[in-house]
Parts: sequence; structure tokens; C-alpha cells
Amino acid sequence: MPSNNNPIICAIDTTDMYQTAQLVGQLADSVGAFKLGLEFFTANGAESVQHIAIGSQLPIFLDLKFHDIPNTVAGAIRATAGIDAFMMTVHTAGGKAMLRAAVDASMEVAAMTGKERPLIVGVTVLTSFDRDDLAATGITDTMQDQVMRLADLAQQSGLDGVVCSPHEIALLRRQCGAEFKLIVPGIRPAGSDTGDQKRVTTPQEALANGADYLVIGRPITAAPDAREAALNILRE
Ligand code: C5P
Repeated sequence: MPSNNNPIICAIDTTDMYQTAQLVGQLADSVGAFKLGLEFFTANGAESVQHIAIGSQLPIFLDLKFHDIPNTVAGAIRATAGIDAFMMTVHTAGGKAMLRAAVDASMEVAAMTGKERPLIVGVTVLTSFDRDDLAATGITDTMQDQVMRLADLAQQSGLDGVVCSPHEIALLRRQCGAEFKLIVPGIRPAGSDTGDQKRVTTPQEALANGADYLVIGRPITAAPDAREAALNILRE
């Protein structure tokens, strides 16, 4: 868990080990944690994530969005013990048994490492989905109802929180209470280019609405001076 009280998790979305190591070096004192996901993991493997984790001295959020039968997801989570991630993701659509197996496996990780249990947070509906995409999977409810239903399932199954869009923060905070972690991507500093993110909010607004962690990628990683960009967001 970020110990420096900094809610910024910098998303590093690249397959390039050198670029990742450089960013991690530049940002060590200006963000709270780093997010490494499928791109980096698939290209470089678990050992490289571990290498970055040791080099960065900041917590790693391992965003691999596990979704499989309970036994397989539990095995994958146990296999992250060497990486020492402070938080990881699963798809809530995997269902109650899978979600419970994920939490149980995180306890086994803690027993293996002797450290705190990694947080298991759920992805509800991917933000790339619209109502038609949902309907094509057989779900005729509104997007909001489906997000709320899956967040409730996550909470009932013992998950620590969910990843949510900026538009869902206030509602989820009300529904799920103060302890449930809300991890929010789609953050753009005031006045910046929103690019391909359609549902965005500013860092202040997200925190005011009840976000715990802000997942911020390109506004930091694509800036001419990544450290300065992160510090500007913090000052904001
Ligand atoms: O560069 P940007 O700030 O848009 O990066 C946001 C990060 O959050 C990316 O790693 C992206 O994959 C992730 N993310 C997202 N929307 C979601 C879930 C994750 O943008 N619903």
C-alpha cells in the first residue's frame, strides 16, 4: 500500500523494459505506486515485474484482470507471491466462487511472503462497453445497474474494492461504504487533452467524490517532464 500518502498510481502501459525502468526512476518521489498490466507482463514476464518492483521501491499494482475458473485464478494469484504486488485485479463477472477463491489465494500469498495480503479489486463493466455491447452479452439492464450489481457481488464476495469510472465514484461510495476501495482511471488534469478517454474527471473532483486511488497514465508518462507533471497534479 502506498506509504507516502500519495493517491496517484502511475499506469505504465508499454512493453519496453528500458522505458519502464526510466519512468520508475524519474517518478519514485512524485507518485504513490506504479501500475503494470497485460502489455508489460506479457512482453517481459513476472521476473521483470519483480525487477521493476525492487528497483522502484514503490508498491506495484498488478493489473492482469484475471477471469477463469476459481482454481485457475487462485493458482495465478498464488503465483504472484514473488512479485509482491500490493493490489491486483479480477473480473467480477467471474462470479462469487471465483472472487472468493481470489481472496483466499491472496491470504495464502500473505502467508508465503509474511507481508500484508495483496488487495483484490474487481473490474465491473469495462469502460469500452456501451449499452449495445452489454445487450449483446444478454444484459438488458442499464450500465449503472449492472455496475452496481457487480460491485455488490464483489463486496459480498470479500473483495477489497472495485475499479470504476469517474461517473460511478459517488454512487459506489454511497452504496459500498467508506472502507471499500475505489480505484479510478480516466483522470485528466484540468484543461488537458482528454484523448481517447471519454468519461474523464479532474484529480480534485475524483478525490472529492470519494476515490481512494487515481490511475493516471499518459498525462504523466507522455509529458516532456514526467516528474514535473506528476508533481503538478499533486499540487492541483
Ligand atoms: O493514459 P491513461 O491515463 O488514459 O491511462 C489510464 C490507465 O487506466 C490505463 O492503464 C488503462 O488501461 C486503465 N484503465 C482505464 N479504464 C478502465 C480501466 C483501466 O483507462 N476502465
